[in-house]
Amino acid sequence: MKKILVINGPNLNLLGEREPGVYGSAGLDELCKNVRERAEAAGMECDFFQSNHEGAIIDQLHEARKSYDGVILNAGAYTHYSYAIRDAIAAIKIPVVEVHISNVDAREEFRSNSVIAPVCSGSIAGFGFGSYYLAVQALAEM
Ligand code: DQA
Repeated sequence: MKKILVINGPNLNLLGEREPGVYGSAGLDELCKNVRERAEAAGMECDFFQSNHEGAIIDQLHEARKSYDGVILNAGAYTHYSYAIRDAIAAIKIPVVEVHISNVDAREEFRSNSVIAPVCSGSIAGFGFGSYYLAVQALAEM
């Protein structure tokens, strides 16, 4: 059975509380539950990891290469400036799908730049939690 890892980066532990007008009123637990349901329906096992720390996210990406077939990554604000996370994605061979809850291109200018996008298999943004569900489908079909 295919196994995927969903990594959520900084401040995503505060989903539901944090800027609900942008990120919605549901929490991280609900997101994980919904993603797991979709992954299982697509015949995949799914694990979750959240950290507010760049190095911990990099460590998880390194670990993921040993036991997962793909990663869904919401790197939060690290998306826009972490060359270290970009290099970690480039260093591993499994596909990494970049996701964002909000439409990053419709917000502040700095959010339009993703330094990780060029090394990800693809990017999905702007569909709320649906961005993760679409990424599940993408990994199921890869
Ligand atoms: C985000 C968008 C980022 O710009 C922001 O820093 C986040 C969340 C999103 O899911 O829309 O933390 O990745």
